[in-house]
Amino acid sequence: MADEPCCRISKKVQICLAFGLLVAVAVVGVLMWLHLYKWNGQGTTEHFADIILGRCSNYTRIVQPALRNVDCQKIQEAFKDAFISKNPCNITEEDYRPLMKLTTQTIPCSKTILWSKTKEMAHQYTRVHRDMFTLEDTLLGYMADGLMWCGDSGTSEMNYRSCPHWKKDCPNNPVSVFWKMASHRFADAACGVVYVILNGSLSNTFDENSTFGSVEIINLHPEKVQALHAWVIHDVGGVPSDSCMTSSINKLKSITSQRKIAFRCQHYRPAPFIKDVTNPECSPCSSMIR
Ligand SMILES: *[C@@H]1O[C@H](CO)[C@@H](O)[C@H](O)[C@H]1NC(C)=O
Ligand SMILES: *[C@@H]1O[C@H](CO)[C@@H](O)[C@H](O)[C@H]1NC(C)=O
Ligand SMILES: *[C@@H]1O[C@H](CO)[C@@H](O)[C@H](O)[C@H]1NC(C)=O
Ligand SMILES: *[C@@H]1O[C@H](CO)[C@@H](O)[C@H](O)[C@H]1NC(C)=O
Repeated sequence: MADEPCCRISKKVQICLAFGLLVAVAVVGVLMWLHLYKWNGQGTTEHFADIILGRCSNYTRIVQPALRNVDCQKIQEAFKDAFISKNPCNITEEDYRPLMKLTTQTIPCSKTILWSKTKEMAHQYTRVHRDMFTLEDTLLGYMADGLMWCGDSGTSEMNYRSCPHWKKDCPNNPVSVFWKMASHRFADAACGVVYVILNGSLSNTFDENSTFGSVEIINLHPEKVQALHAWVIHDVGGVPSDSCMTSSINKLKSITSQRKIAFRCQHYRPAPFIKDVTNPECSPCSSMIR
């Protein structure tokens, strides 16, 4: 008898506690979900760390055996350390400094290919001309090509749900800072003749806001770079207009002349460009539109 009121109360308390707990779990769940999905960009690529390690071993064993002595485990760690447990809107070049140090690589003079809005074609080109390098043919670019990654200051996990979009969220996110820094370093080290493959089908063949226009062109060094050769790929049918004579290319020409770098421009149809590309003696020649 004496037990009854106590037990009734404790049952009520139990129910209350259970309900309270349920609400708390639901609230925390929703908050975590909102937190994970708070950015407008794609989340971290699944298996990001494994892909970095796998690509690093592939590259250093098969693609460029000259780099076989690099420590891919260490590179993977340095890559993760650059952004893990950090605010993904406040990444700095300092964060990537250790990774950059571990991935220094010398590209021979006159073997650098830059591209803007012609990524596929540039990579088709270097797949045939194995001695030429786009940024994605260097170890650093090869590892990161096409991937997304970010973390968060509150956790040591990567965020697989969303990452900051450079325009809609913030420019200093892990991916944008990485590519800006890698492009800067790539252009900085270029020497001899530097090639750039541009898209003549677009009105802004040369886009000052692209990575090429805003990072690479201004980091080429006139004392090392003899000339910039632009290959403009023009894939619009009909009248073969001269894609080297547009105001967009003139803008590029004036930037190079201000920077005391010689400039040369040739325009091509995509098909002959790809065809000639299979002939290493002809890089590029007969495909010029006259
Ligand atoms: C490494 O190379 C092999 C053989 O080319 C390929 O099957 C594999 O997908 C590559 N791995 C990565 C992580 O790129
Ligand atoms: C951004 O990072 C810097 C250096 O890591 C730090 O000093 C600064 O307080 C951070 N700012 C924000 C808003 O997190
Ligand atoms: C030029 O840009 C257009 C539109 O983005 C694209 O479809 C085309 O493939 C590009 N051309 C080359 C040569 O990459
Ligand atoms: C480059 O970006 C700036 C600022 O975002 C913008 O004002 C300008 O119009 C852009 N220039 C071109 C050529 O798109």
